[in-house]
Amino acid sequence: MTSTPLSAEAVEAVEAVEAAEFAGKTALVTGAARGIGKETVALLHARGAHVVALDTRTELVALAEEFPGTVTVSGDVTAEETATRAVGAAVDAFGGLDILVNNAGRTLNKPVTHTTAQDWDSVMNVNARGAFFFAREAFRAMEERGGGAIVSTGSYASAVGLPEGVAYSASKGALAQVTKVLALEGGPLGIRANLVAAGVVETDFLDTFRSDSRAYLASFGNVHPLGRVAQPREIAEVLCFLVSPRSSFVTGAVLAADGGFTAA
Ligand SMILES: NC(=O)c1ccc[n+]([C@@H]2O[C@H](COP(=O)([O-])OP(=O)(O)OC[C@H]3O[C@@H](n4cnc5c(N)ncnc54)[C@H](O)[C@@H]3O)[C@@H](O)[C@H]2O)c1
Repeated sequence: MTSTPLSAEAVEAVEAVEAAEFAGKTALVTGAARGIGKETVALLHARGAHVVALDTRTELVALAEEFPGTVTVSGDVTAEETATRAVGAAVDAFGGLDILVNNAGRTLNKPVTHTTAQDWDSVMNVNARGAFFFAREAFRAMEERGGGAIVSTGSYASAVGLPEGVAYSASKGALAQVTKVLALEGGPLGIRANLVAAGVVETDFLDTFRSDSRAYLASFGNVHPLGRVAQPREIAEVLCFLVSPRSSFVTGAVLAADGGFTAA
């Protein structure tokens, strides 16, 4: 039997069970304008959360119409000021912050000897430094709230090396380590922190250096034992699970959602 994305019946069943799971909760999602981040906004919104959506892309503004009540914040995660402003927007609009989805990310495919200092910094700054700033500001707000949940979109490259991806692998490895420290320091504060180590997902992630991002990513199906790549919603579901009450005893985990890629 081959694996397929969630069927319409499965989606309906899941939605019925989880309909208002995030009612009264406020969630901040970075990298929210498209791809995995946008799917996560859609699920959190559908399940009752107040959502603050952050991105650098102009498509972001459409989210406020598509998901009524959503507050959009335009900004670059690499700046400390952006994290302060975004968490402040959640507190101002909804009285606090319960959930952070640290999802903004970028990549660069270059061999080691072609990777410049600027390449290294540009990837590390978004994937590791930016995620750290958001976690730190979220911690401050969640401490006031008496707890919360943080999840980051990692990668199989959080655990194994990705050829021609030295900066990306380093950044996602760093993010896994940040997650563990957040879990240790967050435990006594009631704050959980986890990471989803995603396999290849069919998105526009590579469009800064390839015009065929989705088709190219989809062509990596056979590296996963399930024989296909993921759809963004399949990763969004795992992100949502890890910030939901259903994962109340899960913290410090690097959870593979990679179609079995790292089982080899
Ligand atoms: N697509 C994949 O195969 C794959 C695999 C594993 C992990 N991931 C991770 O999933 C996450 C989402 O990626 P995606 O596949 O949905 O790609 P995507 O490019 O569609 O989404 C990434 C979003 O992050 C935003 N972003 C990038 N840099 C930013 C910055 N400095 N400040 C604010 N926003 C910024 C982008 O504008 C974009 O909307 C990333 O962290 C990525 O590393 C993707």
